[in-house]
Amino acid sequence: MVNQLEYHPDFAQKEIAAYCQQQQIVVEAWRPLGGPNSTLRNQPDLLAIAQQHQKQPAQIILRWLYQQQIIPLPKSSNPAHIASNPDIFDFMLSSEEMARLNQLPQGTTAFDPETYHS
Ligand SMILES: NC(=O)c1ccc[n+]([C@@H]2O[C@H](COP(=O)([O-])OP(=O)(O)OC[C@H]3O[C@@H](n4cnc5c(N)ncnc54)[C@H](OP(=O)(O)O)[C@@H]3O)[C@@H](O)[C@H]2O)c1
Repeated sequence: MVNQLEYHPDFAQKEIAAYCQQQQIVVEAWRPLGGPNSTLRNQPDLLAIAQQHQKQPAQIILRWLYQQQIIPLPKSSNPAHIASNPDIFDFMLSSEEMARLNQLPQGTTAFDPETYHS
C-alpha cells in the first residue's frame, strides 16, 4: 500500500509518515521539491550542503527523502533536470546534514482542503 502526501523539507509531515512506515505503508512524497517558484531550493542550509557534495539543491532534497525511505515524485519539464534528478546514488548525507535539513523552518501546505477551491 502507498500513501502519497505532500512532503518536502519545509513541509515535512513526519508524524503521518512515521505512522505509515510503522504500518508498512510506503510513503510517496508529492511536491517533493516544494513545487514551482518555491524558495526552498535557494534555502542557505540546503545550498551549503549542495555545495559540500557538488550536487544540485534538488538532488540534496531527493537524497534526503530517499534516506528516509520516502519515494519522491518530482515533476520537471526541463530535460537537464529530468536527467540529473535521479543521480542521487553516488553520495550520502551525514546524520548532521540530515538533522540540519530536518530543522528547516516549516511552511504551510500548498492546498489547504479547508480553503481550496478548484
Ligand atoms: N499526474 C499528473 O498529471 C501530474 C502533473 C503534474 C505534476 N504531478 C505531480 O504533482 C506533484 C506536484 O508537482 P509540482 O510541480 O507542484 O512539485 P515539485 O515536483 O516539487 O516541483 C516541480 C518544480 O521543481 C522544478 N525542478 C525540478 N527539478 C529541478 C531541479 N533539478 N532543479 C531546479 N528545479 C527543479 C521544476 O521546474 P522545471 O520544470 O524547470 O525543472 C518545477 O518548477 C509532483 O509530485 C508531480 O509529479 C502530476
